[in-house]
Amino acid sequence: MLKLEGLNTHYGASHVLQGVDLDMPRGQISAVLGRNGVGKTTMVKTIMGLVAPSGGRVRVGSTDITGWAPHLVAREGVAYVPEGRLIFPDLTVMENIRVGERPTTRWPLARLLELFPSLRERAANRGSQLSGGEQQMLAIARALVSDPKVMLLDEPSQGLAPLVVRELARVIRLLREEGVTVLLVEQNMKLAEAVADQLHIMVKGRMVYRATPAVFRAEEAAIRSRFLTV
Ligand SMILES: Nc1ncnc2c1ncn2[C@@H]1O[C@H](COP(=O)(O)OP(=O)(O)OP(=O)(O)O)[C@@H](O)[C@H]1O
Ligand SMILES: [Mg+2]
Repeated sequence: MLKLEGLNTHYGASHVLQGVDLDMPRGQISAVLGRNGVGKTTMVKTIMGLVAPSGGRVRVGSTDITGWAPHLVAREGVAYVPEGRLIFPDLTVMENIRVGERPTTRWPLARLLELFPSLRERAANRGSQLSGGEQQMLAIARALVSDPKVMLLDEPSQGLAPLVVRELARVIRLLREEGVTVLLVEQNMKLAEAVADQLHIMVKGRMVYRATPAVFRAEEAAIRSRFLTV
């Protein structure tokens, strides 16, 4: 569904993505783990067209979207929940969601408020008045209302309490049940293991490891010290 082939991205002279290959099957959750600064956010921004790649391809289904502008990538069915959420602080919950609404979405506002009970109670509150967990759910709701085929989640669990992370896991699994293909970038290994169909590890702008959660769990101690701990 989403395929990266030899993706390269530079910031000036700094070569961040150094040939990323990633094949995400339709309707599955693919998690990407990696230490700080290896290029996870750069990969997501490159997919979304926010940063231009210097080489390689990005495909959604059979469409080559390499180098497309962000609004065209979004129209092709890719939605982005950025690191740090970036919801609009001065808009209400409802207004935040409506910003991305499409007339024919499978996820109209009413359904989203049903799905996220905490948002329903806060529908008239401004973004800045929400807790971290509520902001994260709002960021996901805002992305869903555009009816995406592919959802890019950049460290959604960051700063959330364990109970809220569990709620987040429920929502991510629900996306899969609804046929949405999910790219989950995470530092929270437990969350990634709990929801992903495939786990990938990025080191210095390249994918170096890929496994199912069961295999990953068996190899975890070795993998963790080799690729993930500082
Ligand atoms: N706009 C930018 N201009 C120049 N360098 C950047 C820019 N954004 C990121 N970088 C650098 O690119 C490298 C990869 O950053 P990126 O944010 O993609 O990493 P990450 O894996 O998402 O890290 P984290 O886990 O901290 O979110 C880092 O060395 C970072 O300093
Ligand atoms: Mg990042």
